Amino acid sequence: MLYKGREGMWSWILHRVAGIGILLFLLLHIVDIALIGAGPELFEKFLGLYTHPLFRIMEIALVGAVFYHALNGIRVILIDFWPRAANFQRPIFYVEMVVFVALFTPTAYLMIRALLMAQGQGG
Ligand code: HEM
Repeated sequence: MLYKGREGMWSWILHRVAGIGILLFLLLHIVDIALIGAGPELFEKFLGLYTHPLFRIMEIALVGAVFYHALNGIRVILIDFWPRAANFQRPIFYVEMVVFVALFTPTAYLMIRALLMAQGQGG
């Protein structure tokens, strides 16, 4: 079974990129919550960054990363516990992609709509 350059390799690379991306958001979240101790002004100012359109686009990517990482993680766990599933890892990956698109498309639509509405109201 050729691994390099095929679904197995790309799903693994995406899993790592998504996992590290989520981890970076988690670290940022720890920083923002820690700022509560520095007083309300700094905390509120820092949270204001999250309303910036660029940040909100990154949040859409974060949701995509969480959906992908969670779904692909389930596929990896399935193969870990039931090795015969490795013979079907490609079809399982395609099922995973269908579920991913079904979850992410409406979510991204709602998030983009909220972003555009906020922009229309001046942020
Ligand atoms: C929905 C819950 C999650 C599930 C089911 C899940 C599942 C997994 C699995 C099975 C692996 C091992 C992949 C492998 O052996 O190839 C893994 C790796 C990893 N996960 Fe998660 N995970 C979840 C949430 C998270 C969260 C919240 C973070 C970040 C804060 C995270 C960060 C990572 C990282 C950095 C790796 C290492 C990736 C690598 O070595 O390529 N995961 N995850």
